[in-house]
Amino acid sequence: MALNRLLVTGAAGFIGSNFAHYWHRHYPQSRLIILDALTYAGNRANLTDLLAHPQVDLVEGNICDRTLVARLLKEYAIDTLVHFAAESHVDRSILGPEAFVQTNVVGTFTLLEAFRTHWQDQGKPEQLRFLHVSTDEVYGSLGPNDPAFSETTPYAPNSPYSASKAGSDHLARAYYHTYGLPTLITNCSNNYGPYHFPEKLIPLMCVNMLLGKPLPIYGDGQNIRDWLFVEDHCSALDAVLRGAAPGETYNIGGEAEVKNIDLVNLLCDLMNDLAPDLPIRPTQELITYVTDRPGHDRRYAMDISKIQADLGWQPSVTLEDGLKKTVTWYLEHRDWWMPLLSEEYQHYYKQIYEYP
Ligand code: NAD
Ligand code: TYD
Repeated sequence: MALNRLLVTGAAGFIGSNFAHYWHRHYPQSRLIILDALTYAGNRANLTDLLAHPQVDLVEGNICDRTLVARLLKEYAIDTLVHFAAESHVDRSILGPEAFVQTNVVGTFTLLEAFRTHWQDQGKPEQLRFLHVSTDEVYGSLGPNDPAFSETTPYAPNSPYSASKAGSDHLARAYYHTYGLPTLITNCSNNYGPYHFPEKLIPLMCVNMLLGKPLPIYGDGQNIRDWLFVEDHCSALDAVLRGAAPGETYNIGGEAEVKNIDLVNLLCDLMNDLAPDLPIRPTQELITYVTDRPGHDRRYAMDISKIQADLGWQPSVTLEDGLKKTVTWYLEHRDWWMPLLSEEYQHYYKQIYEYP
């Protein structure tokens, strides 16, 4: 396995930046080229300390730019492409699905095509890898007593986000079966942790508690998600890159299913304990039920027995510990999240929460 020269797309975002930190910490000799369009979700500040190292470079550019991608693959002699770049928020995909099809489907196709040429030009070396990072949402929604999603669960995406990710997964799979391109696919459950943009549930709740703003719960708050601390996702991707055979798919999850309302209550308890100054205390007083998300998936849960058996990976951070680390991080990094509450953010916020 090569893993010496990585092109990492979308690593100015949440999971990608955590992965870049993880990778540099574990493999400091490895070259990391980050390709990111720096959309609203991409933030150079997520990488500040890393970019001081000569091994790490950030290229601002779009994954749909075939010429640029081809140049980077060749110029840096990339042996491994780790693909995080995506439009990633379900609510934004409901407001405007087009960007999701463009980046998630066309962008992934562009990367696969450029990588195929790069691989073929070198005589199809066995050790190259294209890791496509995806989501459990492609499998659709579970009933309360359904078994968790496995790698053989049929795809049934319900939002423009999950449909566009499903399309990109199918392309990555097809490039293995058709061309023999050494692709890998991972489908992971909901992540949480540092550098998470405050539009997703956990960072939004942390930021709103610190600002004394309402904590909006969609519908009846009984929807269930399976939560994984982002560092554990990074170690799972490491295990897949090192141990998985080309063409394989692995589910990754935290085995930590929680109802949204219970999760928000846990976050409130932690914030009440950890924050010295809060505009409203106890923060539970801020909980507000709002109109449900259209097509809101009821339950996600991941069966992770395959990655446990094949690669010996399992989550190492408990939900309690992970949430405590996360709440502490948001408390200590006001300077990181405050600038993100921009005019564009306020406009988005009004569209979702004030004029549903
Ligand atoms: P994110 O929205 O925080 O980051 C996405 C990054 O991609 C940003 O830095 C953005 O600037 C960049 N980007 C967007 N469009 C681009 C384009 N056209 N060209 C280049 N860069 C572009 O997302 P995230 O939460 O870090 O998710 C990363 C990946 O993991 C996504 O593919 C997502 O589907 C998947 N995933 C996320 C979760 C989760 O809970 N967040 C769970 C499972 C899988
Ligand atoms: P989210 O973090 O957007 O992730 P996903 O929709 O990809 O699972 O949402 C997690 C859960 O929290 C989901 O059931 C929707 C719900 N939710 C709220 O109740 N209120 C909110 O303000 C947000 C952003 C999400």
